[in-house]
Amino acid sequence: MDWGMKNRLARIIQPGDGRAVMLAVDHGYFLGPTSGLEEPRKTVEPLLPYADSIMLTRGVLRTSVDPNSKIPVVLRVSGGTSILKELSNEDITVSVEDAVRLNVSAMALSIFVGAEFEKQTLVSLARLVDQGEKYGIPVLAVTAVGKDMARDARYLGLSCRIAAELGAHLVKTYHCEDFETVVQSCPVPIIVAGGKKTPEVEALQLTYDSVRGGAVGVDMGRNIFQSDSPVGMIRAVRAVVHEKASVDEACKIYESTKSGRARRTG
Ligand code: 5RP
Repeated sequence: MDWGMKNRLARIIQPGDGRAVMLAVDHGYFLGPTSGLEEPRKTVEPLLPYADSIMLTRGVLRTSVDPNSKIPVVLRVSGGTSILKELSNEDITVSVEDAVRLNVSAMALSIFVGAEFEKQTLVSLARLVDQGEKYGIPVLAVTAVGKDMARDARYLGLSCRIAAELGAHLVKTYHCEDFETVVQSCPVPIIVAGGKKTPEVEALQLTYDSVRGGAVGVDMGRNIFQSDSPVGMIRAVRAVVHEKASVDEACKIYESTKSGRARRTG
């Protein structure tokens, strides 16, 4: 791995502890104006001080993130479909030259193992890795799960391993029972997606279980920006990932941030 690739990866996975808090706000690329992300700049700005990196599309990056910001960018470069159609029918939507111009730290692409357009997405991953290797940009493979697929260790393990075999430098997947086996059989770092909004304590438990199970951290979106205290939630997630906080301790951070904000505005 060359210096540029290593340097970019070190912006995402913190060299001090080998952990990562990635803020996911790329949902609009197929969901449109997702709840909590209607005005991306308003959502993103207060959260940036607490994220190690941010995952988003180039459209939101250009319009809603200050170019003076030092936040490392994980650019979503796959898409071409919408919630109204077959989700697996994705292609690469950004050239590597534009990713270079945007000074990104990684490029992210979804693969849909077992879905109708499985091959198309896997070949896209391999092509993107070729481009990434050429320019020293790591590739994050997102193991997307089709509507009819189980989020179990067997299926997620299959998807993560295929992603790594095709050259992904980092893999995003879901937490599941026997998550450790998914991590053990994937030779590159795994980061865990938050998934649908759940009560804060559950999302913090998921964060705790993920890092304890061997993930480098979380790539969390809805459980942060749809929380009634997004800053409280990302601070709590950060404490679990980087400061070895327990779920109870993290809940207290969330509650105290939330009530502090409530006092100021109320
Ligand atoms: C959408 C994504 C999201 O970035 C990923 O699912 C993480 O967000 P959330 O925590 O809301 O699940 O890749 O396709």
